[in-house]
Amino acid sequence: MITRNFSKTQRLGEIVAMFPKAADVFMQNHIDFCCGGDRTLEKAVKEKGIGDKEILDKLEALYEEYRSRVSEDTDWRTAKYSDIIDYIVNNHHAFLKKELPATEKLVSKILKVHFIDNGEVLTKVHKLFNKLKAELEMHLIKEEEVFFPMIKEYEKNPSEEILDRIADEIVGTEDEHDEAGNILKELREVTNQYKVPPTGCATFELTYKKLEEIEADTFRHIHLENNIMHERLRREKENR
Ligand SMILES: [Fe+2]
Ligand SMILES: [Fe+2]
Repeated sequence: MITRNFSKTQRLGEIVAMFPKAADVFMQNHIDFCCGGDRTLEKAVKEKGIGDKEILDKLEALYEEYRSRVSEDTDWRTAKYSDIIDYIVNNHHAFLKKELPATEKLVSKILKVHFIDNGEVLTKVHKLFNKLKAELEMHLIKEEEVFFPMIKEYEKNPSEEILDRIADEIVGTEDEHDEAGNILKELREVTNQYKVPPTGCATFELTYKKLEEIEADTFRHIHLENNIMHERLRREKENR
């Protein structure tokens, strides 16, 4: 008999905070665990028309496999804020700074080459992707120039005043995350789950692959910010 580590009444954000690799199971099933992280597992799988037992079994199997190996994953629930921030900037922000401009070129290229056979879809992709790119680039700058230094300052010199400013900043930051999440959902819809049409060439395939990678990385990125870092800061404010 399998020991149950997860239950359907747990929130998605809570599951991924406890077991980061659960994100893989959610992503494979297109379950949004970052912006929709406060839904219960039961509710989220129902929306997708999947049985909760199926997902729970996958989570349990992955968890057991993971536990039997030596884990190098950091527990972000107890890590220093400055370490979480450095990780976000060096991994997720660095990824976007490289991939957004590279993918922009691909998106323009396939729009031109496939304008005749797939112009309707690709015009939407072009528009949505460029909106996403502009918003995320602005968002990264705001985090790196304003928000993250504020959190690092708080870690060095904790005060109620700075925690209040952080709490205000969290609201705006999470609104921007929701906006990015919505554009990614739209992109997935207009591309029919990134299904390459029969006329699509290798560049077409590569472009959709890149878009899916951006989606996956952004979900992990927003999860780490919303459900781990912001959540801890919110709790600190409540407990003051
Ligand atoms: Fe970020
Ligand atoms: Fe962010």
